Amino acid sequence: MSDTVRLAVIIGSVREGRFGPVVASWFAEQARGHGGYEIEVIDLADVTLPHELPAISPMIDPNPPRPEGMAGLTRGLDRADAVVVVTPDMNRSYPASLKTAVDWHFSQWDRKAIGFVGYSGASGGLLAIEHLRQVFNELGADTIREYVSFPRYFELFDADGTLRDPAHPESAAEKMLNQLHWWASTLTAARESVPAA
Ligand SMILES: Cc1cc2nc3c(=O)[nH]c(=O)nc-3n(C[C@H](O)[C@H](O)[C@H](O)COP(=O)(O)O)c2cc1C
Repeated sequence: MSDTVRLAVIIGSVREGRFGPVVASWFAEQARGHGGYEIEVIDLADVTLPHELPAISPMIDPNPPRPEGMAGLTRGLDRADAVVVVTPDMNRSYPASLKTAVDWHFSQWDRKAIGFVGYSGASGGLLAIEHLRQVFNELGADTIREYVSFPRYFELFDADGTLRDPAHPESAAEKMLNQLHWWASTLTAARESVPAA
């Protein structure tokens, strides 16, 4: 694998007793094993995420003053060539914490490659992922086709967070990481050499 892609893995759920960190930690391990990534895990539970957004539209002021407790997230997104969002389904969509984190940023998403790892009950995060694709499209990001999904995740992981049958998820993660790498490398080179339209 040639270029190293800087990857931010975002833990989207901040719910008390959440399962998200187990999924994110499994995925980060897959990304490390891939060899083409430098990984930073960003846990939204550690980020200050006020619902009150800045007064000025991000199209006019893309980098408004942000809360001090959001600086790590902003820095991580600025640095990242690619982002993987780890999300459950919540009421057939994604958690409000994720929407707030997305809406506080603007140019940080522009022409970046975004992948998804979903988990939940029957729908395995896919309803959240489909909504997120629409949101990231508005922000000029490119969401990639391959994804990892854990329907009824509570039957798939042991109590210690180990996957009972890892072959299929590992293969899905490998495909996703390969595709994400191509898109992130291509977009990074393009961002550096061709101005945005
Ligand atoms: C408010 C809420 C809404 C949910 N809605 C759905 C849903 O629409 N579909 C689904 O399959 N699971 C749904 N679930 C189950 C969650 O996906 C599951 O609890 C998951 O563990 C949540 O992620 P977390 O543990 O990291 O917070 C919902 C859970 C909560 C708390």
